[in-house]
Amino acid sequence: MGSIKTDSIKWAMPQAREILMIPGPTEIPFPVIQAMNQPPVIQYDQTFDVDVLEPINLALKKVFQTERGEVITMPGSGKTALESSALSMVEPGDRVLVIVTGSFGLLMGAVMGRIGAEVTEFSAEWGRPIDLVKLEKEIDRVKPKIVTMVHNETSTGTTYPAAEVGKIVKGHGALFLLDTVSSLAGIDVRTDGWGVDLNMTGSQKCLAAPLGMAIVGVTPPAWEAMERRKHKAASWVYDLLRWRDSWIPVSRGGRVPEGGRRMQPISMSTHLTHALGVAVRLVLEKGLEARFRRHAVAGRAFRAGIEAMRLEMFPDPSVRSDTVSCIKTPPGIEPAAIVKRMREAYGILIGTGLDKMRTTTLRVGHMGITASPLYILPTLSALEMTLRDLGYRSEAGAGVAAAQAIFAGSAS
Ligand SMILES: Cc1ncc(COP(=O)(O)O)c(C=O)c1O
Repeated sequence: MGSIKTDSIKWAMPQAREILMIPGPTEIPFPVIQAMNQPPVIQYDQTFDVDVLEPINLALKKVFQTERGEVITMPGSGKTALESSALSMVEPGDRVLVIVTGSFGLLMGAVMGRIGAEVTEFSAEWGRPIDLVKLEKEIDRVKPKIVTMVHNETSTGTTYPAAEVGKIVKGHGALFLLDTVSSLAGIDVRTDGWGVDLNMTGSQKCLAAPLGMAIVGVTPPAWEAMERRKHKAASWVYDLLRWRDSWIPVSRGGRVPEGGRRMQPISMSTHLTHALGVAVRLVLEKGLEARFRRHAVAGRAFRAGIEAMRLEMFPDPSVRSDTVSCIKTPPGIEPAAIVKRMREAYGILIGTGLDKMRTTTLRVGHMGITASPLYILPTLSALEMTLRDLGYRSEAGAGVAAAQAIFAGSAS
């Protein structure tokens, strides 16, 4: 019997849906999806505020690893968390040093600039480590009120040493704003331990909740800085100080009398809140340590698979992320063509690089439930087949075999 012609078969077609291996939004566990399948409740009813939203914020404090801080959950996304933090903290003319290691560092600089901050960018070559000695010198020279940093730069698949940077920032008496949009609940993030004053994230990445929530951890020095402002922040719903005043009880440094009525400055989506609650419960049930280990192994397995396919990772080995991989594409094959073929033929969605890396790199997320063999192995297999369809040859099955060896604990 001769070979069967297969190149016109669209394998993705029989599937009910595509698998999200982009770097967020990520796949959502089934109990989280189910949590949204209910009639509406009233978002300003105290049974929702006190019995649903408040326990979620308190549970999130454990995920944020903060005892002294508060966690505020708002409608929005990661960008809302960044903008809300910036507008709550910064007055026109305030000096802000923005560490730029990729597209999301640039975004933070743009948000700060829009609010009137006097922004100084401290840039590292994309994909390379930060020079901490130079950074300290620059902080010393600029004397900023605030230093911002992206912990996990999703555009380049890199993780930076927030603990060390936090130490430098605190040593210079500045406030430390950390973007943990693609790291929180996947990689160790210590709000208190690292001196983070505003810890800014979103719901749809490693937390494995639906897109739609901005989440900010706020510590006492951040509240104090907001109180010292000469003018109130120019936002009614995203001024974090208004959240403190109308949401947090007096016993925890807020302004709501004990047993008094809480008010959300903006109406919360009750469906998304319920979903987030289940997502956070699932994270804490297994524990943070277990979650970080899953991501560490999954990241390593994925990278082993990529290298076994003779592909090259974009970042320097010292800063490679365990939640998102950024891969150089083989010469002559467009990232967009790989993404299209992989989606149409095999039903798995990955991303191209961003901005200046769009035509040279691919990005794959392994976050939340996709940080597992169940998702990583098919993704590597589909990537191998896609590349073969587009003319790139590697040893058949080598990527999957290398990743399996890591998952099985039989490779170092
Ligand atoms: C590191 C980082 N910061 C900020 C954002 C913006 O978040 P969102 O898309 O949820 O608004 C993203 C999104 O990918 C991100 O990865």
